[in-house]
Amino acid sequence: MEWKDEYSMGILEIDNQHRLLLRSITVIEESIRLNQGWSNTHFAILELIQLARMHFSFEEALMRMFAYPLMDTHQDEHQRFFTRLDGIERQSLRKSAEAEMIEFLKNWLTRHILGSDRDYAKHIFSGAQVVRHNPANPD
Ligand SMILES: [Fe+2]
Ligand SMILES: [Fe+2]
Repeated sequence: MEWKDEYSMGILEIDNQHRLLLRSITVIEESIRLNQGWSNTHFAILELIQLARMHFSFEEALMRMFAYPLMDTHQDEHQRFFTRLDGIERQSLRKSAEAEMIEFLKNWLTRHILGSDRDYAKHIFSGAQVVRHNPANPD
């Protein structure tokens, strides 16, 4: 799975994390394509789950810092991805993971980067202010 310039959101740290996610999906893909065995594939899936967890938490913190109004919907999307990923992880223990699963991962990630992720970046770049600390009204 190749990185494309159109995936860039203009936030370096987020772009770097997206590159890592893309690379992680490529590792899973290669493991299947080269028949490296179910344990190899399973391990690669676990790595993707870890990376996704860190990345999603990072994004959610960023959205909160900039009071992104659609944060809840975005968080739900992340959550649904994990639910699906859990199923994939369990399946990979039982039988070899399939091309269908790779298609899902690739499609989800590119659609999410080009859609919902771009939306929160737009919010930040539209001049949103970081939420300031107000000791009188702590949140
Ligand atoms: Fe996201
Ligand atoms: Fe993202």
